[in-house]
Amino acid sequence: MEKVLGYLRENQERFVRELIDYVAIPSVSAQEQHRADMKRAAEWIAGEAKSAGLEPEIVPTKGHPVVLARTPRRKGRPHFMVYGHYDVQPAEPFDLWKSPPFEPRLEGKFLYGRGSSDNKGQHFAHLRAIEAYLKTGTELPCDITMLIEGEEEVGSKNLGDFLKKSRKSLDVDAVVISDTGIPSVKQPAVTYSLRGIVAFEIIVHGPSRDLHSGLFGGSLNNPAMALCQILAQVRDKNGKITIPGFYDDVQPLSSAERKEIAKLKFDAKSYAKFLGVPELFGEKGFTANEQRSARPTFEINGLTSGYQGEGGKTIVPAWARAKITCRLVANQKPEKVRAAVISFLKKICPPNVRMEIKSGHGGDPYMVQPNSAAVEAARTALKNSFKADPVLLREGGSIPIVNDFKRILGVETLMIGLALPEDNAHSPNERFSLECFEKGMAMSAYLWPELSAAFAVRR
Ligand code: BES
Ligand code: ZN
Repeated sequence: MEKVLGYLRENQERFVRELIDYVAIPSVSAQEQHRADMKRAAEWIAGEAKSAGLEPEIVPTKGHPVVLARTPRRKGRPHFMVYGHYDVQPAEPFDLWKSPPFEPRLEGKFLYGRGSSDNKGQHFAHLRAIEAYLKTGTELPCDITMLIEGEEEVGSKNLGDFLKKSRKSLDVDAVVISDTGIPSVKQPAVTYSLRGIVAFEIIVHGPSRDLHSGLFGGSLNNPAMALCQILAQVRDKNGKITIPGFYDDVQPLSSAERKEIAKLKFDAKSYAKFLGVPELFGEKGFTANEQRSARPTFEINGLTSGYQGEGGKTIVPAWARAKITCRLVANQKPEKVRAAVISFLKKICPPNVRMEIKSGHGGDPYMVQPNSAAVEAARTALKNSFKADPVLLREGGSIPIVNDFKRILGVETLMIGLALPEDNAHSPNERFSLECFEKGMAMSAYLWPELSAAFAVRR
């Protein structure tokens, strides 16, 4: 282990330089204009895997390519998968970035750039830890397949098919993902639950074209107003979603879990300040940490209608549109929630406008046993690298593909995040802590012997 850790220390500066090159590739999966950049990012990470001593393969899909990179296969060893994604969220609004999102910048102990922590820096840490084993001739106690996809931020539409087709060669014992968070560098964590998600777009159509609001306004419904009135009925003043059936399958929080969540350090005032809001708001009867990890939500992600340009324009707009996602918790099913939402919205839509609903991606919530041998292995690796006792977290974000790992490959996922709350994921000025990068590489180095021992018992 000393040789591996020594290699990581000696090469730290090079790793940061390489991560800068990776983050500089604008691999935004949601935007067609970045298709070539997506291919470039796939090729870049495959190239790095090759020089690290793994065997890479770029596999085309109906969408963006999947990158597989394997350590040499040997008989009778445990086999683990490291999953990550090379795609990133759109960087808009650009004007709020202190420096351009795809011109990575080092400032203090942080690397700024879209995708730096979500997720390039996190899976890159694993790649470099594996390289350290291979380059120092230190025996890896397991075989490792890295699977880095390009469609996580758009719902992993094509990865399920890929997993089905590649099941034979993906005969892994468990999946490891670093794509979640930790409370602070001093407080590492293992995540045992993620929320699910279901996405929609609602378009309310009014007149056949934008109309002069002086000539016609008052004699027809305004679709922007109609949409606002519809959406306003979805949630009451206590933060409860009013859609009939919405909470039907929600598994109530046990008192043991509530106790566990209550142990997390939390101060409402400083949290509100951190978020930039005058005060917090959420479903009555639950704490903020419960609300954002263990309760379902209905969230407007985008709301558009009418004239958005400079100055004003007196019109009744032809349409109004909302992009919506609901976060789901055990045991909600995306398609059941989708049906409940659609039927409610259709029912309350007034007859003087026309509602169109487009269905988007969906993913089940996820939960694993917090006391498994795999989690124990992660705890040890985290303790050794972060020099602190890890906590167990339920988190509110989603990584929909983990359910397919279970359904298709038959294995559980171990989630060991390296991102901080202040890393600005999906926000302007995303960053990655170099300390988390360094500790993350050490964590990965410590993990493989621990995890192999945990799974050797089963073999
Ligand atoms: N890294 C996140 C997921 C995450 C972040 C989980 C923090 C737990 C804690 C991932 O890249 C992500 O953003 N996923 C999307 C999935 C969606 C587009 C289907 C999400 O949660 O919005
Ligand atoms: Zn993300």
